Amino acid sequence: MNDKQTSLAASHPLDRLSENESSAAVGLVKADSRFGPKMRFGSVNLCAPEKSEVINFTEGSPIDRAVDIVLLDVSDGSTHEVTVSITGGSVRSWERLEGVQPSVILDEFFEAETAVRNDPGFRAAMAKRGITDMELVTVDPWSAGHYGDPLEQNNRVIRGLVWVHDKPGDNQYARPIDGLTVMIDLATSKVLRIDDERVFPVPTESADWSRNFIDNPRPGVKPLEIVQPEGPSFTVAGDRISWQKWDLRVGWTTREGLVINTVTYTDGDDVRPVLYRASLSEMTVPYGDPSVTQARKNAFDVGEYGLGMLANSLKLGCDCLGEIHYLDAHVCDAAGNIIPLPQAICIHEEDVGIGWKHTDFRTEDVEVRRLRRLVVSFICTVGNYEYGIYWHFYQDGRIENEIKLTGILSTGGLDDGESSRYGTSLGPNLYGPNHQHFFCTRIDTQIDGTANSVVEVNTVAAPENENPLGNAFYGEQTVLQTEQQAQRRIDPMTGRFWKVTSAVRKNKMGGATGYKLMAGENILPFATKDSSIRQRAGYMWNHLWVTPYDREQNWPAGKYPNQHAGGAGLPEWTSANRSVENTDIVLWYVMGHNHLPSLEDWPVMPVASIGFTLKPSGFFDQSPAMDLPASSTCHPQK
Ligand code: CU
Repeated sequence: MNDKQTSLAASHPLDRLSENESSAAVGLVKADSRFGPKMRFGSVNLCAPEKSEVINFTEGSPIDRAVDIVLLDVSDGSTHEVTVSITGGSVRSWERLEGVQPSVILDEFFEAETAVRNDPGFRAAMAKRGITDMELVTVDPWSAGHYGDPLEQNNRVIRGLVWVHDKPGDNQYARPIDGLTVMIDLATSKVLRIDDERVFPVPTESADWSRNFIDNPRPGVKPLEIVQPEGPSFTVAGDRISWQKWDLRVGWTTREGLVINTVTYTDGDDVRPVLYRASLSEMTVPYGDPSVTQARKNAFDVGEYGLGMLANSLKLGCDCLGEIHYLDAHVCDAAGNIIPLPQAICIHEEDVGIGWKHTDFRTEDVEVRRLRRLVVSFICTVGNYEYGIYWHFYQDGRIENEIKLTGILSTGGLDDGESSRYGTSLGPNLYGPNHQHFFCTRIDTQIDGTANSVVEVNTVAAPENENPLGNAFYGEQTVLQTEQQAQRRIDPMTGRFWKVTSAVRKNKMGGATGYKLMAGENILPFATKDSSIRQRAGYMWNHLWVTPYDREQNWPAGKYPNQHAGGAGLPEWTSANRSVENTDIVLWYVMGHNHLPSLEDWPVMPVASIGFTLKPSGFFDQSPAMDLPASSTCHPQK
């Protein structure tokens, strides 16, 4: 099953752009007199409709569709933000920006590598290391960051890190050319400078992952099939998914990839809103190694590259198992051509063990219910690493976000007999440097309406005067009233969680209905106050931020983090210290995965998983899972 994305008539304001709509938008821009011969398309995305338009939308009403396009003018380095109306067939606005760098454009990845391979200075540096076959050399384009390097001024630059294959198709990350980096100008595809700072021996031990190199897969793995003879329990109509009282819309941007829109839960006759929009809005991977090559390594994979641009086409039986419904997506290249991305979004349902159970030990009456979840996901490849972003919706009202990390370590070189405490030795002359992965999920809640508040709950021991036996404890609740008061960190020792409550609806006990945000694995950055990354990814220093909804505030490290000096995004907005009580709010949950590599992470890291849960907390008047049907095999129908 898939959709062809050929329509030009959207049926809902949040429908993903069809290929025809993207083409039409590109055509309108190209036909405009302001479109210059050296302009490249950075991104083409749906212009988000006003929230009120979405909330008040009724089926069949006319829809005004608009598209936001970012252009890069290579002739003068300017950036252009253009909005076109598809419905009106016209350019609505055209703004020229100076001094910002849009995300790396897909074409630039390959242009940078070619430029480096063809550069005589680079060839000489490689010859010094005994490498002459440029076909075996790969260059990973790492964003240059902001380090006061004169080349960062007025240039669109990328920092190339170098690896070499021993033979075509093998794992080049087993052979880093550490100590050699290349600054490349993306506007001219020219090498600006070669930083040849240290020569290491090229490691000789292979560490391959392609099946062509792996003999003798383990025996004994018998077929495991997931069969749903009557089909899955969900229905998909366009971008709308309905499953087990849940209803939601799938969205897509080149920056975030998958977006979850307008999530509701049908409770009796009531269709109750839970989320307006949720997505992974930024991620940053800071490296923790002071060596010449590693010290400047960090990447903002959402803002500097774009997860949607780097999404995989998924394959049944490989990425996904069972009864799968795929949605296709597409991206645009630098010339504005459509690149189809078949099967980019995976939708299926999973059995996840028991949902609830009780045995009456006196009568031996047993009731047990199995639990299912709806999974909506996509996977992207950011250079050496893979990230799978999964949204889980459960029959018991929970929503879970899970990020799976896998792929190959971005390695470094060592001298003979050398080791580094800033990484883990993986083989002779090879190590995996310490680093972290921070993910910031933007959660625009709509718990029984847009007016919401956040209450922090910490469990504390009772005071002595009401605690004669010393056993008592309770959940202390604090309303987070302003943006600065709402900059919070996890505290596992007090079981800290944050409850998002409705300003209007009450449960049967008179309490505000709510959902709690429960943290999973987390950590803080180790970079110092004076570091470049402290300025550029300030959002990483809190696990929770809450802001009042603002249509323009979407990116935790700013709209254009590429080569940016920092300070933009959450730290900037929240300096206004606006009220976040009983109003339309957005939660930003930041989670960090600490990665001190181990030998077992090599050559391809087995999936590591990190996530958080949104769990109903006084949202329902009792367990919403009591009506789960008993399975016919263990409880014969009465
Ligand atoms: Cu890692």
